[in-house]
Amino acid sequence: MFKIVCINIMVAAFFLWASLYMLLSILPSCYEWQESTPEQDVSNANIGQRNRKIDTISMQESINRVNIGQHYMCKHWAVVYAMSYPTNAVRRIALNSNWCLVIVADIGSISMDAYLTALGIRGRRIVFLNVEDQDILFSDFTAAIPSRHIGRKNVGYLFAMQNGAELIWDFDYNNQGILDINISNTRNTIDVLQRCSGQHKLFNPYPYFSVNETCIWPRGFPLEFVRDTSTSPELCKGNISVGSVGVFQSIAKTEPDVDATFRLTREYPIMIEATQTFPFILIPRHSYCPFSERATLWTKQSFLYMALPTGVNSRVSDIWRSYIAQLFFHQKGINLVFSPPIIEQTSRDETILEDFQAEMDIYKKSNSLIDFLQTFRFHHNTTLENLYEDLYSRYFITLNDVYFIRKWVKSYSKNFIVD
Ligand SMILES: *[C@@H]1O[C@H](CO)[C@@H](O)[C@H](O)[C@H]1NC(C)=O
Ligand SMILES: *[C@@H]1O[C@H](CO)[C@@H](O)[C@H](O)[C@H]1NC(C)=O
Ligand SMILES: *[C@@H]1O[C@H](CO)[C@@H](O)[C@H](O)[C@H]1NC(C)=O
Ligand SMILES: *[C@@H]1O[C@H](CO)[C@@H](O)[C@H](O)[C@H]1NC(C)=O
Repeated sequence: MFKIVCINIMVAAFFLWASLYMLLSILPSCYEWQESTPEQDVSNANIGQRNRKIDTISMQESINRVNIGQHYMCKHWAVVYAMSYPTNAVRRIALNSNWCLVIVADIGSISMDAYLTALGIRGRRIVFLNVEDQDILFSDFTAAIPSRHIGRKNVGYLFAMQNGAELIWDFDYNNQGILDINISNTRNTIDVLQRCSGQHKLFNPYPYFSVNETCIWPRGFPLEFVRDTSTSPELCKGNISVGSVGVFQSIAKTEPDVDATFRLTREYPIMIEATQTFPFILIPRHSYCPFSERATLWTKQSFLYMALPTGVNSRVSDIWRSYIAQLFFHQKGINLVFSPPIIEQTSRDETILEDFQAEMDIYKKSNSLIDFLQTFRFHHNTTLENLYEDLYSRYFITLNDVYFIRKWVKSYSKNFIVD
């Protein structure tokens, strides 16, 4: 009797197991991109320590590549994010025949027709990518981008790379002007001011652009160091080859990019003395300095590092990108330069307290992030992907960022012929 019951239970268990197994195997592999799940709040003590792991997750392998771009071959591409009607900053670049322009729309953006009609300029140099185009061009990639996120620009960068870009002007629709630097002769030199001596993990270039403030720093700079004058040491004259520069960042002469703590506590907007001429300032090798997505010129050698993480806030994304890129720049001898102020930023929305909230990760984590990057042991096999994994395990970025960067690297290597 007992034996029979036992066998019956075993048979039932077997069927249960078999049916579960079959059910699971016919379910589609649905563990793909999810909406960013809110990260659990991490105590400050945990930041920078490696104490979470990535579960192995199989990834969909397909990369769509539709060549709608072949007609737009162009060496100089400007990339801008657009939710609403075109601004003067966009119009001026659209009129500049040295540049092609890709306008990246978002979910709920203005339509292409309304945008281009308002712009009043059409032609092959101007490309408007609405969300449907983006999904066709980079389908599994766009699924990783939350709506109303600056990470939409990633699509624009890849589009530019796919269509002949040698220079990418990464700009914000409120930033007027363009850094038109002739890089065709990479052996040409440019005069720079650079640190005379000493060493510091951070470099703050803002104090050199005379503003009437005792203390000024770029958005993204760790608050612990804003009063530390050794982050803005004495500068000496020097020169570097154009070909060594990966990023030229322009500081805006009206309303330079500062964080909400600055705007809450100081006279704002601020101006940079327009009467003075300023040189290029070289960020010292092995020092870190945040740079933005507002007025930034990227050369081809640094394109891989343009990825804007999509799982962190838009106001944090470009800052994290800048620090991550600099780790690779330091290894590869690529220079980061601040250009003279030629850009004019027109007024932004007065949402200072919201910006303050949005920038919380910068205030809480940027110093630990730099400490981590500084001590990071770079191997011959270090890639952007495994750096992201490490950053995830230390609570700097989210799991979505890890998935995103794999897709980015894959799209980058497929779509962009590395020479
Ligand atoms: C850039 O410089 C090269 C040589 O250095 C020159 O041939 C070319 O005309 C310049 N381009 C522009 C747009 O000034
Ligand atoms: C800075 O302050 C000086 C002296 O107070 C003043 O003359 C100058 O106009 C100010 N510059 C700006 C850009 O506000
Ligand atoms: C660049 O700097 C080196 C030494 O620092 C100097 O010998 C050279 O003349 C400079 N070149 C130019 C074009 O200024
Ligand atoms: C990279 O190489 C080092 C040794 O050269 C090894 O310890 C490490 O595990 C490797 N990392 C990866 C991600 O392959």
